[in-house]
Amino acid sequence: MRIHLRVWRQAGPQAAGSFQLYTAENISANMSFLEMLDVVNDQLITKGAEPIAFDSDCREGICGTCGFLVDGRPHGPDPCSTVCQLHMRRFKDGDTITLEPWRAKAFPIVRDLVVDRSAFDRIIQAGGYTSVNTGGAPDANAIPIAKPVAEAAFDSAQCIGCGACVAACKNASAALFTSAKITHLALLPQGQVERSTRVIDMVERMDAEGFGACSNEGECEAVCPKGISLNNIATMNHEFLRALLRNG
Ligand code: SF4
Ligand code: FES
Repeated sequence: MRIHLRVWRQAGPQAAGSFQLYTAENISANMSFLEMLDVVNDQLITKGAEPIAFDSDCREGICGTCGFLVDGRPHGPDPCSTVCQLHMRRFKDGDTITLEPWRAKAFPIVRDLVVDRSAFDRIIQAGGYTSVNTGGAPDANAIPIAKPVAEAAFDSAQCIGCGACVAACKNASAALFTSAKITHLALLPQGQVERSTRVIDMVERMDAEGFGACSNEGECEAVCPKGISLNNIATMNHEFLRALLRNG
């Protein structure tokens, strides 16, 4: 296939960015989207030009490192998929594809398609952990947890922190990400000790990082590669109110 690319190029956080046009030749339908970009970058490097910067690590849909807008949609057209799991057979010979970084104040652009998502790390640092010593793995597994509770906690724990939910939201809200972490720990016995302080600290950190309020429109759930449910946001709001009432 021959694929035309409109790629956002930006040399650094303060530099002016613009779309640049590239043509990728001899692209196999079996290539992943990132392998196609690897081919384009090889050609750019051969010509002495700067390669297109983009993030990736596992390329298996599990680490949350990759992510940019493909024709305006976070992670591209496939439902419940990361961009590293997108394949070129989804496109046709001669297609023009537009690539942009996540657009959100709290995710400043580092270069080209790479954004700084350390705001998510700071939300986790505010409370997305348990400081209770649960012992080694056998001890932790000895705590009885009902199967429906364990499965619900696991559903929330599947969030990989990619940031697509923020990129899809017109308010650039991090409510789905933050609520998934809060819900995961609020459901489990290990998360009970810090349950109230956790939700307040994480929500306050989320607001301080410049993420907007939940729009209630559900774009986040629609683009989430892990199918994280909007129910997590309802749980976060419930947990927040509960914590405020408990703290007086
Ligand atoms: S909630 Fe979904 S879209 Fe948002 S960071 Fe987690 S995995 Fe990514
Ligand atoms: S590179 Fe790990 S999820 Fe895409």
